[in-house]
Amino acid sequence: MSLIQTVQDLNLWLDNNGRHGKTVGFVPTMGYLHEGHLSLIRKAKEDNDIVVVSIFVNPTQFAPGEDFKEYPRNLERDYELSCEAGADMVFHPEVSEVYPSGATTAVEVTGSLTKTLCGLSRPTHFKGVTTVVTILLNMVRPDQVYFGQKDAQQALIIKKMIRDLWMPVKMIICPIVREEDGLAMSSRNVYLNAEERKQALNLYKSLQEGEKLVEEGVIAASKIVQAVRMYLERAPLAVIDYVELLDANTLEAVAEVYDDVLLAIAVKFGKTRLIDNKILKSKEERTCF
Ligand code: PAJ
Repeated sequence: MSLIQTVQDLNLWLDNNGRHGKTVGFVPTMGYLHEGHLSLIRKAKEDNDIVVVSIFVNPTQFAPGEDFKEYPRNLERDYELSCEAGADMVFHPEVSEVYPSGATTAVEVTGSLTKTLCGLSRPTHFKGVTTVVTILLNMVRPDQVYFGQKDAQQALIIKKMIRDLWMPVKMIICPIVREEDGLAMSSRNVYLNAEERKQALNLYKSLQEGEKLVEEGVIAASKIVQAVRMYLERAPLAVIDYVELLDANTLEAVAEVYDDVLLAIAVKFGKTRLIDNKILKSKEERTCF
């Protein structure tokens, strides 16, 4: 396994490892790896000859006052975990390698996908994500790139960008990996104190509550959203950013649950903002399978 910091070394390494005639799978991350990230690396290894993992805390997707500086970092541990999960190379560029001085180009997906959910509370976030993902894809030039459903909106936006710009890469979206008690794994979970961690479980439970209602035949979005909100409010430390039920492909508001709607939530515990989601299907659709 190799640790590479520059694009020049990245290209040398890929050439020396015979990239031509082999498939390259790429897993972009901001590091502080957990089982969620590792599931993407394992899947990439199953599917490809060569697996590249990037670890880059991207400054442009953090707004001033967000946690860019405090974002947890542990390169040595990330390197070892990536290796164990099947990565062949870890790419860990400096900020100046990704954004050389004078770089002024950004990539932005406009329209409904970026104007809702996290796009409202973090208005500059997705432009930073799509810009860095484009840069990293141009650097690594993989055949397949892997993202998690944990960041459902991010995945949809990147999917749209890849399609709109005819980027020559296949995107694979992998399921959410959770702690044993159901909390979705996130690098930011380490910020939670014991009490917040306990109450954060309500995120998952509230999604289950929404799913239960749908299973019981409730289809009115407003009823489901209200029930999820009420469940979240049982946690006294929870400050709700949003609870939304949207079309799972377009992220447009829906009045009723039909095939594939996304129940998405964002909640703050102290300074820590957590997101989670679940795809729900109407009862009728379920019985069709
Ligand atoms: P990061 O938060 O490190 O996540 C990297 C990838 O891991 C993303 O595709 C994310 O959806 C996935 N992931 C995180 N937690 C997961 C979980 N519990 N289960 C499954 N997958 C999970 O997302 C980013 O970094 C950045 O925005 C990035 C795309 C790297 C651009 O900077």
